[in-house]
Amino acid sequence: SNKKLLVLPGDGVGPEVMREVGRLVGWLQRRRGVSFDITEELVGGASIDAHGVPIRPQVVQAARDADAVLFGAVGGPQWDHVGFERRPELAILTLRRELGLFANLRPAVVLDPLVDASTLKADVVRGLDIMIVRETVGGIYFGEPRGVETLPDGSRRGVNTEVYTTHEIERVARVAFELARRRNNAVCSVEKSNVMESGLLWREVVTELQRREYPDVKLSHMLADNCAMQLVRNPRQFDVIVTGNLFGDLLSDLASMLTGSLGMLPSATLGAVDAFGRRPALYEPIHGSAPDIAGRGLANPLAQILSFAMLLRYSFELEGEALLIEEACRHVLASGLRTADIMSPGMARVGTSVMGEAVQRE
Ligand code: NAI
Ligand code: MG
Repeated sequence: SNKKLLVLPGDGVGPEVMREVGRLVGWLQRRRGVSFDITEELVGGASIDAHGVPIRPQVVQAARDADAVLFGAVGGPQWDHVGFERRPELAILTLRRELGLFANLRPAVVLDPLVDASTLKADVVRGLDIMIVRETVGGIYFGEPRGVETLPDGSRRGVNTEVYTTHEIERVARVAFELARRRNNAVCSVEKSNVMESGLLWREVVTELQRREYPDVKLSHMLADNCAMQLVRNPRQFDVIVTGNLFGDLLSDLASMLTGSLGMLPSATLGAVDAFGRRPALYEPIHGSAPDIAGRGLANPLAQILSFAMLLRYSFELEGEALLIEEACRHVLASGLRTADIMSPGMARVGTSVMGEAVQRE
């Protein structure tokens, strides 16, 4: 039976870039005979306007029932005053929590060094293709004890605690090892085991897991501060990087800037495989709803399109189709088409739909 795809365009440029994915879905159906059962729902501000809440329970249920979720972006200034409990961003936070999405995959891929290396030497990033796997539901952002307390002398103390259990480390490391097997078979595990107990445990657990279950994957370890330096100095030394929540937050943002525009970067968040062998997964561009350019047909659709390609690869086992789409994006860039965010002298400036159409034509 057909794979079930839940599409959640959201707000701002979300629906604009999602429309370009729709074009590719039609193309896959006509030219490759691949089709999906697609359901589309409102989330974020659009859902607040229609239903009073950023995400309805039946949409969360639809996400659970789907084989994969393709998310656009949510938020915008028109919903800044709805209150903390109803803000659009709760849509994505709710989905992450309800589907148990604990592993965030952020590829840093250079599609075209002419576009991507605007801030760096092209020879350092040419052909770059790394995958950062960040643990997203544990670590210092969630560990107890936490809070701000007033001390007897009236001064105050803010507390966060980094906590990782062997189970949490193992399940995210397993995602990294599995990914590495489909790529260049190398995982670099990143922590600060020199100064942190949780880092020490992290290193032990990852080492043990590799020895037990992934002896075919090459494992290395690196301290997080050194990793930041190495990502800037020689990023192509990495294949898959696996790390905790805090370091992953910083390192994935750092790595994304090796590759240029926000408008070209996809991501995935994965949960645990269930008893039926299904793994919940949500795919989204790393950019937000870009209210400053929304409604004007200017947004770069490539991040959304590449998120869809990741979905085809990791959730629908359509590696060939994923590669076709990624190659098409590469060709379109090489041919000189540019949306405003990646515009450079001598290139052809186009809008969202011309860019999307060009990808589909390739
Ligand atoms: P943003 O990513 O929406 O925009 C940052 C800058 O990048 C803007 O100048 C924007 O025009 C540009 N940009 C973003 N995507 C682009 C694209 N596809 N093509 C061309 N240019 C693009 O981040 P910002 O401005 O901080 O947040 C705007 C809204 O989005 C806020 O309400 C925020 O909460 C929300 N947001 C939602 C996210 C999500 O849905 N997962 C993630 C990040 C922000
Ligand atoms: Mg961040």
